[in-house]
Amino acid sequence: MSAASGIDHPRPVLVVDIDAHDVQQTARVVRGADIYSEVIGGNRPSTEFFEREPLAALLVGTGTKKTAGLIQELRQRNIPVALVGTEANDPAAPHHSSAPADVARLLHDSSIAPYLLEELRIEPAWTTDLVIADQLAKIRAQVGKSRLICGLSGGVDSAVAAALVQKAVGRQLTCVLVDHGLMRADEIEQVERDFVAATGAKLMVVDARERFLTALAGVSDPEEKRKIIGHEFIEVFQAAARDVVASGEADDEPVEFLVQGTVYPDVVESGVGDGAKNIKSHHNVGGLPEDLQFELVEPLRELFKSEVRQVGTALGVPESIVWRQPFPGPGLGIRIVGEITAERLDILRAADAILRDELTSAGLDREIWQCPVVLLAEVRSVGVSDGERTYGHPIVLRPVVSEDAMTADWYPLPFDLLARVSDRITAEVPHVNRVVLDVTRKPPGTIEWE
Ligand code: XMP
Repeated sequence: MSAASGIDHPRPVLVVDIDAHDVQQTARVVRGADIYSEVIGGNRPSTEFFEREPLAALLVGTGTKKTAGLIQELRQRNIPVALVGTEANDPAAPHHSSAPADVARLLHDSSIAPYLLEELRIEPAWTTDLVIADQLAKIRAQVGKSRLICGLSGGVDSAVAAALVQKAVGRQLTCVLVDHGLMRADEIEQVERDFVAATGAKLMVVDARERFLTALAGVSDPEEKRKIIGHEFIEVFQAAARDVVASGEADDEPVEFLVQGTVYPDVVESGVGDGAKNIKSHHNVGGLPEDLQFELVEPLRELFKSEVRQVGTALGVPESIVWRQPFPGPGLGIRIVGEITAERLDILRAADAILRDELTSAGLDREIWQCPVVLLAEVRSVGVSDGERTYGHPIVLRPVVSEDAMTADWYPLPFDLLARVSDRITAEVPHVNRVVLDVTRKPPGTIEWE
């Protein structure tokens, strides 16, 4: 909590990472009970524990080091301690046997809420209304009368961050949406029309479609594509930011802040919970460099995805954005295997729109994590249509379920849905004469094809 805001940080339940497999899961369960939680590495100096004034500490994981000492120190300060998981469901949990016998042991996630709410009588005060009120006050305190810009991607995080800032300081905010031409059908319109209508945000859409196509002409190597898209994106965004800075009226305050949709898992993965094992291997293309001349405003820093969605819903952000599945920054550019051309983008957009339409009709949007649709633009196969020979391209469907995109499993879409999607894509999308299904786990396959 920055001193500038003047608001006390909510006292957390600390979720202590003792070489845990999935410490964020425990932190999410606590949040699910409307209690604020924070992840902290078990090897951090104890001052870092105590300065947060925790309401309780949950020790998660199988590491032995320091556990007994930590329990003792916490107890000396009257901080209730519980161990999450036991030898019963985690035979590799030696610290549990070395911990004092009277330390609470929570065998399953379902015992966490009763322990905190009923046994410790912690007040369930971390509600969506409180989160919003708290963030509005923090944003106002941080930015004063200065102007801000926010890059929108069409995704949930940037949209909800922008909606919060818009509500806090209204027209001091300008949103910038770079149309790189690699979005899916309707995505730009959803932001231009629905997001603006719902939030009243000032939006500048930069049409950079030609520029990206030109820069990508003749390139088929995936890494090269990612580099070009990332580079062009930064250039275009920076130029747009300069325009916003210059566009102020004479009596306007300067643009000093950049709004970013950083969420709590990003914060944990960048080190606070010692969660180095979770760091994503690929460079986050579609992000911004750190040396932009702005101070960051990050109103979602404390929130998990489900909380971001609750806040977005409460602020009236359109459902199509709040519930959008993950979509990569380089967009359809890394779903065309081969060179990216305007025609190939149209083909892929049409196929993707059919798949998404059918998933929505079947009520499966929230069931799966995401379903990339991939165009194998440099593969052709023979087919037949209306008695004529065709020589077209395959479309790949890649439905996956995942918790965090680090690992994933393929999702068994119902046969009747697959049949409909296949019939529709081959009938409605020109140059496509085959639909194939990707049934590969991650690892070894990544979710995206490039
Ligand atoms: P992979 O293909 O590595 O993808 O299994 C994991 C998750 O990350 C998304 N993804 C990206 N997201 N910029 C992004 O913002 C990127 O460059 C990027 N590459 C992959 C992918 O859609 C999946 O959710």
